Amino acid sequence: MLDHRSPQFQDFAYKVLSEVRSVFQTRTPVIMFPSSGTGGWEAALVNTLSPRDRVLFVGTGQFSLLWSRMATHLGLAVSVIKTDWRTGADPARIEECLRADVGHVIKAVCVVHNETSTGVRSWVDDIRDAIDAASHPALLLVDAVSSLAAMDYRHDDWRVDVTISGSQKGLMLPPGLSFNAVSEKALAASRSATLPRSYWSWKAMLEHNADGSFPFTPAISLIYGLAESITMLHEWGLDNVFARHQRHAEAVRRAVKAWGLQIWCRTPHYYSPGVTAICMPIGHNADDFRQFVRERFNISLGMGQGRLAGRAFRFGHIGYTNDATVLGALGAIEMALEAARVPHKAGGVDAALSYLAQGDCDSKVRATESLLATRRDGSGNLFAQASI
Ligand SMILES: Cc1ncc(COP(=O)(O)O)c(C=O)c1O
Repeated sequence: MLDHRSPQFQDFAYKVLSEVRSVFQTRTPVIMFPSSGTGGWEAALVNTLSPRDRVLFVGTGQFSLLWSRMATHLGLAVSVIKTDWRTGADPARIEECLRADVGHVIKAVCVVHNETSTGVRSWVDDIRDAIDAASHPALLLVDAVSSLAAMDYRHDDWRVDVTISGSQKGLMLPPGLSFNAVSEKALAASRSATLPRSYWSWKAMLEHNADGSFPFTPAISLIYGLAESITMLHEWGLDNVFARHQRHAEAVRRAVKAWGLQIWCRTPHYYSPGVTAICMPIGHNADDFRQFVRERFNISLGMGQGRLAGRAFRFGHIGYTNDATVLGALGAIEMALEAARVPHKAGGVDAALSYLAQGDCDSKVRATESLLATRRDGSGNLFAQASI
């Protein structure tokens, strides 16, 4: 490790702090804490809000539920627009709530962009439009923990006030770094907000970050990794990365449909490009199936969370994946469905394979995929790296 108080590290961190903005598509500061994504949630709330402030959540799944519980624990007044977890946030309902709030009691709208627990995405640009249509001054706080660097995300264009993210999803890093991208409006709010904060204080972070330093020990090794992730994402091109995720998501959905299984997300408009939750047929437990796949193939499928527990498993087609890894995991699932005698039709892998082989994949996406198979080592040489 470099000494984080050394000029070498500060120069390096200053550069990373400035370059990471491009991934959020913002020109305003991105703050990094040594923490998991949950810490990023807390930082966003305590820096912008005051005790008993009302905040509006859209209950799209387990992560919005956990985040809203945190808001309650912190002493905020929480309102929730409920959903059945099988669809994304409805901008019309947000607009309706904000129009009804004539006294502007609601201080923030909190939305999870990609509900990792359900494989349901929301559309942040439409939510921005809904807030504008209601002419409401509420802050917009967005959890982009599993959407950043996996699907199109535009902090500035969508005028998001705080974007929360973490290192372990689209950024392809181990867990341990959380992010708050903050707008000017959020910074202004932080100057008058009175929720107690110390570790999570943006003020101390921003003062130190001005010269690449940190008020306490940063996650040094993860910041090295982040520099590399940013380079990789830009080598591939963010748009190509997003297209790759869309394409792998579509391949997985085709397999699921060919098996005759159900995708948890009810509406294609809200299908997640990063993760697909797949319902188990009635009478079959998803966790038993996951255990079978893990023991037989050493492949870890995502568990069903909250109300999906035991009812669904999740396929992550996010980050450092390529056609072969996606097809490998689909092949394992199809074999396991057969071996565990889970009712299904054959042909899921074939459906995904034909799509990936001939599907609507332009040359840029293909180029991204071949770049995925190679990495540049420190001396600038290219070497092949097996993905599985
Ligand atoms: C959408 C979303 N938000 C928040 C979190 C919480 O992040 P962490 O587990 O890193 O604290 C997760 C974790 O998977 C997530 O997927």
